Amino acid sequence: MKYKQFGRTNMNVSVVGLGAWEIGGNWGPIEEEHALKLLNLAYINGVNFFDTAPVYGFGKSEEVIGKFLNQIPRDKVYIATKCGLEWDSRGRIRNNLKKDRVLKEIDDSLTRLNTDYIDLYQIHWPDPNTSLEETSEALQKILDDGKARYIGVSNLNAHQIEELCEYIDIVSTQNYYNMLVRNVEKELFPIINKFNLTLIPYSPLAKGLLTGKMTEDFEPSKNDPRSGDRIFWDKKLFLENLDKVEKIKEISNRLGKPLSQIAINWLLFHEEVSTVIAGTKNEKHLIENIKASDWEMTKDLIEEINKILF
Ligand SMILES: NC(=O)c1ccc[n+]([C@@H]2O[C@H](COP(=O)([O-])OP(=O)(O)OC[C@H]3O[C@@H](n4cnc5c(N)ncnc54)[C@H](OP(=O)(O)O)[C@@H]3O)[C@@H](O)[C@H]2O)c1
Repeated sequence: MKYKQFGRTNMNVSVVGLGAWEIGGNWGPIEEEHALKLLNLAYINGVNFFDTAPVYGFGKSEEVIGKFLNQIPRDKVYIATKCGLEWDSRGRIRNNLKKDRVLKEIDDSLTRLNTDYIDLYQIHWPDPNTSLEETSEALQKILDDGKARYIGVSNLNAHQIEELCEYIDIVSTQNYYNMLVRNVEKELFPIINKFNLTLIPYSPLAKGLLTGKMTEDFEPSKNDPRSGDRIFWDKKLFLENLDKVEKIKEISNRLGKPLSQIAINWLLFHEEVSTVIAGTKNEKHLIENIKASDWEMTKDLIEEINKILF
């Protein structure tokens, strides 16, 4: 495993991290024992960065990570979680970044995660009904109380990041970014560089599309997290992307490297990116993703791939 400094922090994170949405059960049921096995497998293979959120499995993902933290030395891993999405008894989710709510959420997360600090505490999604100034008061208190070491954001646009930076020191942004979804390059790279942030790309494998396992007839079911994602419901876009994936597959075959590793290493080539948090419920896939860190992309390869992507 390779490690990289996480932006301006003193955290040295594994370039391949693990996204823990999948172990919350939203991507189909998963036994707790199996989820713990995956976390431990990642850990013994050098992964030290784990990304979760309260909303993943409505507490389940954090709870399993809490059990995992019981089994290993706490200071050997970095835990990133999030705030700002609450759910009701019927599973309806809404944005809430009010000060009181965020101060309650951190305590709930610490309890579920079975720890007294979170390494990276991230705003999950902006809340149109709460000012960033109000939210930042809660986040500053969380830092001052030692409940989180660093603050990050996710899904904020450049203006929102710029405004938030007036109130509080943030170190990272987490956004939808992969070979097929590249808006952040234009929209966020300038602000990332201006404020010396680091980028955690989410859905790095385009939710499975970049692993080459999907065919033209792929139709996510209603409960599948992919059903609401334009890259799947917009059939024209889906087929265009599938065509690109087929072309990249030829490069993958030529190199003898799995597509998933090409997708991960394409992201890691960008210096803005620190760690890539693919999610999986499958041990073989997890090891395949981790092994992306055994090799690196050359500039020539990036150029060859980018010609296909444009
Ligand atoms: N901040 C946000 O708003 C936000 C939004 C989305 C995601 N995230 C974070 O990003 C993480 C990853 O994103 P994601 O889960 O949306 O999508 P992803 O990592 O791009 O893709 C996950 C999908 O790819 C499959 N997969 C993984 N490795 C594979 C491999 N080597 N070969 C074949 N299939 C493979 C998984 O299925 P198998 O289980 O079969 O491997 C799963 O269906 C999440 O866990 C979460 O932590 C954050």
